[in-house]
Amino acid sequence: MHANHKKYLPFEPIRLPDRRWPSNRITKPPIWCSVDLRDGNQALPEPMNLEEKLMLFDALVGFGFKQIEVGFPSASEVEFQVVRTLIEENRIPDDVTIQVLTPARDHLIERTFEALEGCERAIVHLYNNISPVFRELVFHTDKQGVLDMAVRGATKIRELADARPDGGKDLTIEYSPEMFSGSEMDFALSVCEQVLDALGATTERPVILNLPSTVQMSTPNDYADQIEYFIRQLPNRERAIISCHPHNDRGTGVADAELAMLAGAQRLEGTLFGNGERTGNLDLVIVALNLFTQGIDPGLDFSQLNDLKRVYERSTRMRIHERQPYSGELVFTAFSGSHQDAIKKALDHREQHHPEHWQVPYLPIDPADLGRMYEPIIRINSQSGKGGAAYVLHSQFGYNLPRTMHPEFGTIVQREADRLGQELSAEQLLRLFISSYCDVQVPYHLMRHDIVESGQNGQSIVKFTGLIGYRTREYTLRGEGNGPIDAFFSAMHEAHIDGFEFVSYHEHAIGKGSDAKAVAYIELRYNDKTFFGVGVESNVSIASIKGVLSAVNRALQMEE
Ligand code: KIV
Ligand code: ZN
Repeated sequence: MHANHKKYLPFEPIRLPDRRWPSNRITKPPIWCSVDLRDGNQALPEPMNLEEKLMLFDALVGFGFKQIEVGFPSASEVEFQVVRTLIEENRIPDDVTIQVLTPARDHLIERTFEALEGCERAIVHLYNNISPVFRELVFHTDKQGVLDMAVRGATKIRELADARPDGGKDLTIEYSPEMFSGSEMDFALSVCEQVLDALGATTERPVILNLPSTVQMSTPNDYADQIEYFIRQLPNRERAIISCHPHNDRGTGVADAELAMLAGAQRLEGTLFGNGERTGNLDLVIVALNLFTQGIDPGLDFSQLNDLKRVYERSTRMRIHERQPYSGELVFTAFSGSHQDAIKKALDHREQHHPEHWQVPYLPIDPADLGRMYEPIIRINSQSGKGGAAYVLHSQFGYNLPRTMHPEFGTIVQREADRLGQELSAEQLLRLFISSYCDVQVPYHLMRHDIVESGQNGQSIVKFTGLIGYRTREYTLRGEGNGPIDAFFSAMHEAHIDGFEFVSYHEHAIGKGSDAKAVAYIELRYNDKTFFGVGVESNVSIASIKGVLSAVNRALQMEE
């Protein structure tokens, strides 16, 4: 039996027929505020200890956050100690402001101010829940009840701020009407306006109004409507900085944030990789990199993203999903052959033409910008196409297989991946290439060779003499031609190794200096089928001869 969907009520959107946000564009980054150490921390099965919090704080600073919510100092001794340690050990850089959260209760606000003693700059973040569901089911109060609570909290904060040595000039106040998106908009406006009055907000000393989507309830366009409506209706709008704090219950935290920016939000609260209550907070890494890939500098440093991931995973004991946008282990890995092929072509084009702008299919961002490398871009499995394996051999090991050889090698790779039932690493791929093409010594193997090149009337003459092993026997071969391959072919003919027709020859150098070698790719036709062979030698003539013998052996093995 199906569960009853009728027990859920649809979200009731506000009416905003003249909404303007859909025509807006995002042209600059928001003010970023990391709430990893508070909202992220409170959602951990095992919250961070002092040491872990300090470690993550340093990483957040290194990443470029200028506003960091470091905790809830009235909630526990550890939370209090974190704030004290940051202040007493002078760990807060001059351009960074810490933020602390407090509920709207006098004794908790007092404790929060105690934690901030001696702090040069801070944001005091006051919140209370104003939503109907809380009023009715949790607080058993009415609108006036939650409004009074907010105003009383704001008044207390102003009183304690005024009592600070510099009259509170070092403090910025933030107010969050919790569950804003699930509240009546006109009521939220009225609460916020009265809180701004109680705090004495001015254009010169604005208050941050943080409008959370504490639990997502609607499509992101409804949230954007709420933000635009709120901003348009707020009297003396300049005395507030509009901040948004989406969670991710419907998986649309990023969309909420981006549409909220279109609607006028100036500041975003969120966490690294979206850690946070239930399905998480807004993932600030995604929002920032979405901006970056639109040509907007987010003002955060992504070059050490791998280090940041490590610190995050160590301090939170969370892990980042393999498919997490931008940060996941697999996001620069293409398994599909057609994807691999397209990526290879675009990367080759970049290498040759150095275009100014990034345009690579299936890679919306250059992995190098995130401190990641090209190597793991492509992995090979049984779904991969011909181009992928060739790309890895070229990019990782320098073997530049002729294009006509890709299907043949691709088939060998797919067979091996099927046999193993798993993807092949680059090293496995190289070993497969060597064993399939370079180390093919059966039935014929070259035991000795001698090549003499001479010239007559501008024509070169190459003489080949060699000893070739065939099963338990040995044959001496002799032949002459206008090049080493030609000479070897006539020697083969002498030894009755017949039926092979030369099709194509490619050659390139591999390695550098005294280690440099020649790689020759030889394609032969035998019984109406074509076969490749590869020879690798310091001498290009010998490489070619070995390539011919490899192709001959492969053809005869296939026949068998
Ligand atoms: O999600 C939320 O509403 C909060 C507030 C305290 C801002 O975390
Ligand atoms: Zn939250």
